[in-house]
Amino acid sequence: MAAADPTALAARCAVVTGAARGIGLAIAEQLARDGLQVLATDRDGNVAQAEAERLQAQGLNVRAAVLDVQDRAAVAALFATLPVIDVVVNNAGIASSMLPFRELDAAQLRAMLGVNLMGSFIVAQEAVRRMPQGGRVVQIASRGYLGGAGAAHYVASKAAVVGMVRAMAIELRWRGITVNAVAPGMVDTRMLEGFTPEMRRALEQREPAGAAASPQTIAHAVSFLASPQAAQCTGQVLFVDGGKSVGMPPL
Ligand SMILES: NC(=O)c1ccc[n+]([C@@H]2O[C@H](COP(=O)([O-])OP(=O)(O)OC[C@H]3O[C@@H](n4cnc5c(N)ncnc54)[C@H](O)[C@@H]3O)[C@@H](O)[C@H]2O)c1
Repeated sequence: MAAADPTALAARCAVVTGAARGIGLAIAEQLARDGLQVLATDRDGNVAQAEAERLQAQGLNVRAAVLDVQDRAAVAALFATLPVIDVVVNNAGIASSMLPFRELDAAQLRAMLGVNLMGSFIVAQEAVRRMPQGGRVVQIASRGYLGGAGAAHYVASKAAVVGMVRAMAIELRWRGITVNAVAPGMVDTRMLEGFTPEMRRALEQREPAGAAASPQTIAHAVSFLASPQAAQCTGQVLFVDGGKSVGMPPL
């Protein structure tokens, strides 16, 4: 068997959204360590730029760009500057503090869907239009899409993302594009700042590992789905949640 051409691997180009911090930043770093050229985008362009410079100082091929995933024109303009996109990771997302369903209003639901669903849709659509040789789409969903109290808007947005992944996978497999979701459990990022310390402790105790996972754990799962070796894996949801999605043990 011929050895893989390392320059061909090095030339693969990945775009990561929401990559200024947390899970997105860990994904950008991991993909760069895998040998990809990474464009780390975030609506907070200054922080993304500072983090990209930190990673460049370690010899990693990471560039930063400001990008709000809800802005179709900006997404199209940025992607037009790239000769080709091999991997796109839709990670940008928002959550909120607990909101009982009876108090949830339409504006809150719309805001959640605007970033988590519409943003993913816009970025994925603009990216696959620039994948003439095939590619990888990875959507960061959440174990929460299975359901949960106090977050119907978040659950709905992530369930919709998973539905879109399954539909996209069927349409795009003929073009050599795989589409998968990663569904993290609780991860130690600033997204958890919406919880009081007491609430956070209570939630962590319900995790099988007894603590929130590190963002790097999620990045490793993305690394596999983004790799050439994952060509046969499409339309799937990879839960990275310590097994909580399988069920809780009996009391
Ligand atoms: N932290 C968790 O416990 C957890 C669990 C499951 C799923 N997730 C998902 O993982 C993803 C990353 O979350 P995180 O925990 O790293 O959160 P985070 O809040 O630390 O980071 C989110 C990043 O997305 C960016 N962002 C938000 N809206 C944006 C927009 N409109 N355009 C561009 N960038 C935008 C923010 O600036 C930020 O840098 C999200 O999709 C989230 O729903 C997180």
